[in-house]
Amino acid sequence: MSTITETILDTSFKKDVYNGLTANPKFLYSKYIYDKRGDKLFQDIMELDEYYLTNSEFEILSMHKKAISELFRGNGKGIDLIELGAGDGKKTKILLSYLSENDYDFIYKPIDISKNAIDLLTADLHCELPKVRVDAEIGEYFEVLERLQQYNSRKKVILLLGSNIGNLLHPRAIDFLSHLKDTMNTGDLVFMGFDQKKDPQTILDAYNDPTGVTAEFNKNLLHRINSEMNANFDPDKFKHWEVYDPESGTAKSYLVATEKMQVNIEAIDLTICFDPWETIHTEISQKYDDKVVRWLAEEAGLSIVTSFSDANNYYKDYVFRRK
Ligand code: TRP
Repeated sequence: MSTITETILDTSFKKDVYNGLTANPKFLYSKYIYDKRGDKLFQDIMELDEYYLTNSEFEILSMHKKAISELFRGNGKGIDLIELGAGDGKKTKILLSYLSENDYDFIYKPIDISKNAIDLLTADLHCELPKVRVDAEIGEYFEVLERLQQYNSRKKVILLLGSNIGNLLHPRAIDFLSHLKDTMNTGDLVFMGFDQKKDPQTILDAYNDPTGVTAEFNKNLLHRINSEMNANFDPDKFKHWEVYDPESGTAKSYLVATEKMQVNIEAIDLTICFDPWETIHTEISQKYDDKVVRWLAEEAGLSIVTSFSDANNYYKDYVFRRK
């Protein structure tokens, strides 16, 4: 990379787009799908019948809220319920309202890097669950968790809903879990969602819905590069493609060029050529079974306390403690 190029790459988005589209094979990170339009499209995905993940976890929390809350009970000093990636809090509210109605002593601490997301969630909870004490933190997950570890003697329960761990291949998932473990004290818990292996067709349908919402969502990456980097991708000339390997449990999303193309990305001074049917890999959604989750936990220095699943066994929330 020349020094001129380096000075143009003044944000991580630009750097990642440059590196991903000059690599062979090409890739882009799915985290960049989520701008305002992407957030809205993901809300639409969560409403799809085919996208079973949200409904399954909703069912787990509704069915098992009593048993889950029992596990969360503190050591007499109350608990800090810390949520990483809270989103709109729709699922969390099931637990929050149960804990509050049953007089648990707890503080809810959602952590998010987006001030906007935190402000919306805090305002919403203030109206809907006024009794719940909310003390949100804006920042990177681990930066906040490390800060909390030093100042706190209360039991911590760290919530990660939505199977976001699935965006990481196993080695990085182990790093993530082991980093989490380092911020925990004895008695603290992690409560975390893992989408399960199931009929491969069910998985493909969830990531390739007939109405095309998922395709539009995936292509939002191109729309975003167009608008933020003055590029001229034609999103209609790309096809959303999903594959699922039932052996490894890895689902992958691609954008596939349907013809030979040249795309110019002005802000990073880059012209890229696509051969017909050339791919851009955008997303990994790993699926798990008990054996794999136990292995990941072991490697990270955690052990499974218990787990909760929906009636179909499509999805599981696991509870971990330090080994
Ligand atoms: N990573 C999320 C998931 O696995 C979001 C997602 C759903 C997604 N469909 C997608 C990301 C298609 C990229 C492409 O459920």
